[in-house]
Amino acid sequence: MTKDEIVALDRQYNQHPWLSGKVSPLAVARGEGIYFYDCDGKRYADMSCQLSCNNLGFSIVPIQEAIKAQLDRFAYIGPAHAFETKSVLAQKLVQLARGDFAKVFFTLGGSDANEAALNMARTVTGRPKILSRYRSYHGSTLGSGNISGDPRRFALENPAANGFLKFFDPYCYRGGGSAETYLAQLEEQILYEGAEQIAAVFVEPVTGANGVIIPPDGYLQSLRALTKKYGILLVCDEVMAGFGRTGKAFAHQHWGIEPDMITFAKGVTASYMPLGGVLLSKQIADSYQEKVFQFGLTYSGHALACAAGVATLEYYAENAIFERVTEIGKTFAALLAEQKAKHPCVGDARSIGLFGALELVKDRDTKEPLVPYGQPNTTMPRVFAMLRERGFSTYGRENNINITPPLIITEAQLREAFPALDEVLSIIDKELAI
Ligand SMILES: Cc1ncc(COP(=O)(O)O)c(C=O)c1O
Repeated sequence: MTKDEIVALDRQYNQHPWLSGKVSPLAVARGEGIYFYDCDGKRYADMSCQLSCNNLGFSIVPIQEAIKAQLDRFAYIGPAHAFETKSVLAQKLVQLARGDFAKVFFTLGGSDANEAALNMARTVTGRPKILSRYRSYHGSTLGSGNISGDPRRFALENPAANGFLKFFDPYCYRGGGSAETYLAQLEEQILYEGAEQIAAVFVEPVTGANGVIIPPDGYLQSLRALTKKYGILLVCDEVMAGFGRTGKAFAHQHWGIEPDMITFAKGVTASYMPLGGVLLSKQIADSYQEKVFQFGLTYSGHALACAAGVATLEYYAENAIFERVTEIGKTFAALLAEQKAKHPCVGDARSIGLFGALELVKDRDTKEPLVPYGQPNTTMPRVFAMLRERGFSTYGRENNINITPPLIITEAQLREAFPALDEVLSIIDKELAI
C-alpha cells in the first residue's frame, strides 16, 4: 500500500485515542534501533520511546526470539493455568521490587493495573476514599481515570463515584522545595477527609506525562511515614518511571521506601507485548490467602507477553541497562541544562536518569507558562510538529517537552539528536522576543 492509502484508510476506520477524527497520522514503515522510518524513508529519533514505553528500541533480537519460542508452545492459555514464563516472570518481578513484596497480578497495561490496585486497596482496608495528585495520570478506565489528576480525567470523572480526592504535587519549580510543607498540607487534608475513610494514596514516584516532576529529598519517605501513621496504603504507580527509566528498577527505590503496592506496565516488556500488573506486599497478598480476589481479565498473564517480559528483564540485567542509564543520564542532564542556559523560553530543565523534561515559559522571571494550564492551544502542537519535521520525535503535556529516549541510546546518538531541539527552541525564543 502507498503511504496515502494507509493514511486514508486509517482516517476512515480508526478512532485514535484522545483525538477527534481530524488526525494526520504519520505512516510508519519500520523501526530499527532507536529510530523509526516513515513510508518516505525519513528517519526519526524516537526521543520519547513512543509513549515512554518502547524502552529498548525496535531491534532486540532475544525478546523477539522469546516471543517466537513461546508462540511455538502456545500463544494463550487461560489465567487459571500455570506455565513457565508466567511463574518465572512473577518471581523476577518480586525480586526486582525487593523488600517485602510477595506476589504479582498481571494485567494488559497500566490503566487496568491501577484499576486492580484500586479494587484491592478498597477491599483490604474496607475504606472508600482514594487520594492522588493533580498533576498525575493513572489511566483511562473508570477507576484509573478518576484517580488521574490531569485534565484527561474530566471526561471520565463520574460525579456519582465520589471519594476520589486530589492533592497538590511536590512541584518544586513552582511551589518551592520543602518536603515538609507539602506533607503538612497533605496531613491536614487527610484529617479533614477523615483518615479512617481513606484506603490509599496513589502517586507516580516521579510524575511522568505531566512533566517529569521529581520529588524533593525526604518527600517520599515522609509520605510513607504519614500513610503508615493513618493506616492508609501507599500505591506507587511505576508504569512510566519503572524498569530503569530513572536508573533504578523502580523510581521509588531512589528514596529507599517500600510502598504497599507497585503498579507497572510499559517497560516490563519494553512494549514488545502489552503487559502490566500489580506487585503486592506480603501483607496484601496474605489477606487474599482466604479471601477471593474479585477481579479478572481474560488476558491476565498472556503467554506471549510473559515470554516477552522474562526476556526483557533478562536483557536489562545482562546488559546492565539500569546502571548505564545512570551513567548516560549525566550527559543527558548536561545537554538539557545547556538548552536551559541558551534559551530564555526554557524555564526549567529536569531529569533523573533518562527521564527528562523542558518546561517552557513566556518569561523566566515570572515563570508564566508558555501556554495556560488545561487550555487547548496550538503552540505546543506546533513545537512538537517542528521537532518531528527535524527528525526528533517526542511529546509532552501542557508547557512541557518530555524527553524519554530509549535506555540503549548512546552518547553520540544523544548529541546528534539535540541540535533539532536547539533549533526549535531558538524559533520559540525569537517569537517571544517580538
Ligand atoms: C504513570 C502511568 N500510569 C498509568 C498509565 C496508563 O497505562 P496504559 O495506557 O497502559 O493503560 C500511564 C500511561 O501513560 C502512565 O504513564
